Amino acid sequence: MNELNKLSRRYDEQAPRAGLKYGIIEVTTRCQCACPGCYMVRRDSLNKGAVPLARAVRVLDMCRDYTGCELETMDLLGGDPLLWPHLKAYCTILLKRGILPWVFTNMIAITPEMARWLFERQVHITGKLNINPDNAEAMPLQAEMIGQRLGIAKKMLAAISIFTDAGYRQPLFRLQNLIRRSNISLVPDYYRWCLQHGVGTDLELMASGEPIDQEYFRIAPNPEELAAMIQNVQAVRAECGLPEADVLMPHVFGACPFFDKGLYFAVDGSIRACSNSSVTLANLDDPDPIRKAYESPLICNRLKLSQAVVGEPCRSCDRWERCRGGCRATAEGTGDPFGGYMLCPVPHLLAG
Ligand SMILES: C[S@@+](CC[C@H](N)C(=O)[O-])C[C@H]1O[C@@H](n2cnc3c(N)ncnc32)[C@H](O)[C@@H]1O
Ligand code: SF4
Ligand code: SF4
Repeated sequence: MNELNKLSRRYDEQAPRAGLKYGIIEVTTRCQCACPGCYMVRRDSLNKGAVPLARAVRVLDMCRDYTGCELETMDLLGGDPLLWPHLKAYCTILLKRGILPWVFTNMIAITPEMARWLFERQVHITGKLNINPDNAEAMPLQAEMIGQRLGIAKKMLAAISIFTDAGYRQPLFRLQNLIRRSNISLVPDYYRWCLQHGVGTDLELMASGEPIDQEYFRIAPNPEELAAMIQNVQAVRAECGLPEADVLMPHVFGACPFFDKGLYFAVDGSIRACSNSSVTLANLDDPDPIRKAYESPLICNRLKLSQAVVGEPCRSCDRWERCRGGCRATAEGTGDPFGGYMLCPVPHLLAG
């Protein structure tokens, strides 16, 4: 038995079930977009079906039976959750059970009625944005960033107003910016616009559950470019009278809260550790699937990751306690469960 397996065994003896708090569910794979760098596009997983409502509810029951209490939150992903016919019914069930729903959406299919319905129930929304919407010249780039025509990109920007007209603002409403080579220079302008309009920001580095290769860097920026971008965003914060934000990965100003406390449920029934992880831990039709997934070697390794065993640059990083190694799916994609987060721009920020 190698060293890693021995450690997994020891962890198993401590019954980790109480650590499972967060669910992520792919409710439909239907989507109007083809965003470059999206893991669903890369894996050719879009437009392949949806989850029946009863099965989405069964996921909640199975998690509750495993841990002894309800999940704290359930993220609704896809595809686009607004294209799932059971969205209202599922949110109603989640709220009734005390589970906080959080919808991640490209916003294109939102209607004023649906935005009001969600706002009245205080459902968190994370939409998408890669430009300053007031910059008409950047519209073709916004269309490129979602792999769609200009008209659809305009519809996406108009959807922001549908949410704000319904009352949505930070912290209930954020616009996530998946940072790629083509839009990195516009990130500071996007950030300023969100600050000025009371909308939350979420900068996201492109993750990859598969090994990082030339194809990845064809779409995503490298750590040096990210470090330069972060300095420009900090300058925008200073300009708006805000203090410098703490730089943590993979959300640039935030760590991943899910990496060892969540499970991801895909439309095809497979269960993974998180959205970008490429390892199937169990299938919903397996006997005792939540235990099989959450007590798998992959999750056990995430739970026992420490600064003593993680690779560089995390091993010698003074932010370890707050960050805990960036995107673990990306580090694991290299084949080493204890690998360091090699995409981290922090060493370049410190060197500069
Ligand atoms: C797959 S999408 C599904 C929900 C919805 N269609 C949307 O775009 O928000 C869920 C989230 O994952 C993000 N995402 C997609 N590909 C990613 C990647 N390679 N790395 C990190 N986040 C990614 C998206 O930007 C989005 O915020
Ligand atoms: S809208 Fe969401 S699911 Fe659709 S391609 Fe873009 S990131 Fe992927
Ligand atoms: S080096 Fe690792 S622990 Fe430090 S900020 Fe970067 S990803 Fe986080």
